[in-house]
Amino acid sequence: MSKRSHATIRRSRAKANRLRFLVTAGPTREPIDPVRFISNRSSGRMGYAVASRALARGHAVVLVTGPVSLEPPAGAEVLRVETASQMNRAVQAAFRRSDCLVMAAAVADYAPANPSKRKIKKSRDTVSLTLRKNPDIVAAAAARKGPRIVVGFAVETESLLENARRKLARKGLDLIVANDAGAFDSGVSTVHFLSPDGSCVAYRNRRKTDTAEALVRWVETACALRRAGRVRAGR
Ligand code: CTP
Repeated sequence: MSKRSHATIRRSRAKANRLRFLVTAGPTREPIDPVRFISNRSSGRMGYAVASRALARGHAVVLVTGPVSLEPPAGAEVLRVETASQMNRAVQAAFRRSDCLVMAAAVADYAPANPSKRKIKKSRDTVSLTLRKNPDIVAAAAARKGPRIVVGFAVETESLLENARRKLARKGLDLIVANDAGAFDSGVSTVHFLSPDGSCVAYRNRRKTDTAEALVRWVETACALRRAGRVRAGR
């Protein structure tokens, strides 16, 4: 076979294996008034690393990102959002044209129910905020995932694996990456990959880029298996 036909076969194989990754990253910000918000300590590094590794492995990436101080990887389609509601709308719309969702964002669970249009002035000694639950973005996507692969993260301060397993089942995920809360804002972490079949793989003291690479490869295999399963089921 000629060099040119080898190259053509390689290109068409690469195209067939190219996945559309939808990745979320960073925190959300929930406004209290025009100058204040509720947020969390997420740096966005994990999601950005996943987006970067997926691109490096030839996949297409839509990155839905909360406010972070990182430069998005070249080649990603970047959708910038602030609140959980905005992130929800962006994710649900992009999910339809994706093969997988990697939900690395640290979504604020609650938002002020009635954010003030004006700056709240310092008059009383105590103030209370009424918070309303935000939509569970990854659970909503997983509920209508069809053949897509949905990955979530669990950040816990106690009973890491037990809580992560519960979250995996409750949200209907294909994989959950369990993370100790100490990993927030750090370059190195110990994570566990937990799947619904009960398997648990630990990656100890890894850089986030290494965990991201392992995660992208896990998704590639899961998508390939699902595709193969669909072909077999259709025969
Ligand atoms: N998540 C989400 N929408 C939310 C909250 C969380 O999609 N409103 C996603 C996160 O991006 C993560 C997974 O759900 O992939 C688990 O997030 P986590 O904060 O650990 O769990 P919660 O559902 O918020 O539960 P809890 O705060 O009680 O631990």
